[in-house]
Amino acid sequence: MNAIALPRAQPSLSDRIDQGLFDAIYSRSLVYNTCWEDPAVDRRALALGPSDTVLVITSAGCNALDYAIAGAGRIVAVDANPRQDALLQLKLAGIRELEHGDFFRLFGEGFHPRVAGIYRDALRRHLSPFAARWWDRHVGWFADPARSFYYHGLSGIVARVFRSYLRLRPGLGRAIEAVLAAPDLAAQRAAYDEGVRPLLWSRTLERMLSRQLTMSFLGVPYPQRRQVEAQHAGGVAAFVREAVDHVFRELPARGNYFWSVYVRGRYEPGCCPEYLTPGGFAALKAGRAARITNRTATVTGYLRRSSGPISRFVLLDHMDWMSSYHPDLLAEEWEAIFERAAPGARAIFRSAHRRPPYLDTIRVAGRPLRERLRFDDDLAETLGRDDRVHTYAGFHIAEFPS
Ligand SMILES: C[S@@+](CC[C@H](N)C(=O)[O-])C[C@H]1O[C@@H](n2cnc3c(N)ncnc32)[C@H](O)[C@@H]1O
Repeated sequence: MNAIALPRAQPSLSDRIDQGLFDAIYSRSLVYNTCWEDPAVDRRALALGPSDTVLVITSAGCNALDYAIAGAGRIVAVDANPRQDALLQLKLAGIRELEHGDFFRLFGEGFHPRVAGIYRDALRRHLSPFAARWWDRHVGWFADPARSFYYHGLSGIVARVFRSYLRLRPGLGRAIEAVLAAPDLAAQRAAYDEGVRPLLWSRTLERMLSRQLTMSFLGVPYPQRRQVEAQHAGGVAAFVREAVDHVFRELPARGNYFWSVYVRGRYEPGCCPEYLTPGGFAALKAGRAARITNRTATVTGYLRRSSGPISRFVLLDHMDWMSSYHPDLLAEEWEAIFERAAPGARAIFRSAHRRPPYLDTIRVAGRPLRERLRFDDDLAETLGRDDRVHTYAGFHIAEFPS
């Protein structure tokens, strides 16, 4: 079953080649093996409570699990890519059937020597037919100690290439570990400035970051890349460099599991998403995981086929994609969102653009989104500074009319 296709407008020849490549890759693959969006920032923006119903785009499912631990009453995780949904299903089955030790080996270390038996005897029966067929063919991704699950999927392939890059520059690997282990920000900044920066930024890496192919593997389609290039003289490489500088010079690296998982290929007990901590796992197993509903569907498709008010919407950065290829589908999506939004509901999303043009071009009931929603730019700005991922130029918090 292919991902639900999102048709597109008329780009140039090289755009079409890039996009064709992107569609071909994307529509057959698991793209995200971990959520690349910071739930700690989301929690502060969403202020979740037991009366909240959250609609979130699944990606790797880590953040849907996080919102359940944070106490949201109900979480609906939808994704147009059935492989992303299949990953969340496998995590939910693991929470149901396994103890923390085995669960952490699978989704923390990304490797478990007995995964075949655990999958066959305990997990497979909880999966949908598509998810079972998918993991029947891919459960081996957890069976290789030298190539963990976090080196699989499209984003995992980029992590593998980066690992080879580190092997070419052994001093760099050690320097990065020194940054990740630094006792405080001053020591971390020094380790980064003296050890990592001089070794990390090479013509090779900059060329790699400027290639659409790399961006496609990172789930960044051509229009989104163009948006970054439009805002940064040095293009994507300069944007990534600025982001990495901020992450490793301004934010504590010790708990930053977003970057460390792609350097180490695994999470550490003290540096991992909340759902992998003993406390988070226990809360999920004790009932919070049952608050999660998962679906393979577009946001519009799910909203059109369900009912009831939704108080929180977490839309990731998918609008950068849709607004470029088919703005009419995005407008339809927002119509459905407005129909289901509870009074005073809140939506958060990220963008490659500090001021996404689609907030002025997408209209619902004749008025642009920017007029129909009340944006808390100050809070978004403040929270955005603490974002441990830091690869989105824009973070947006919008309130619906009450
Ligand atoms: C842009 S990515 C977001 C990934 C996110 N930044 C991350 O790193 O975790 C978009 C995700 O949304 C899904 N998606 C895109 N458009 C969608 C739609 N209209 N409805 C539901 N899911 C959608 C894609 O399958 C993908 O998993």
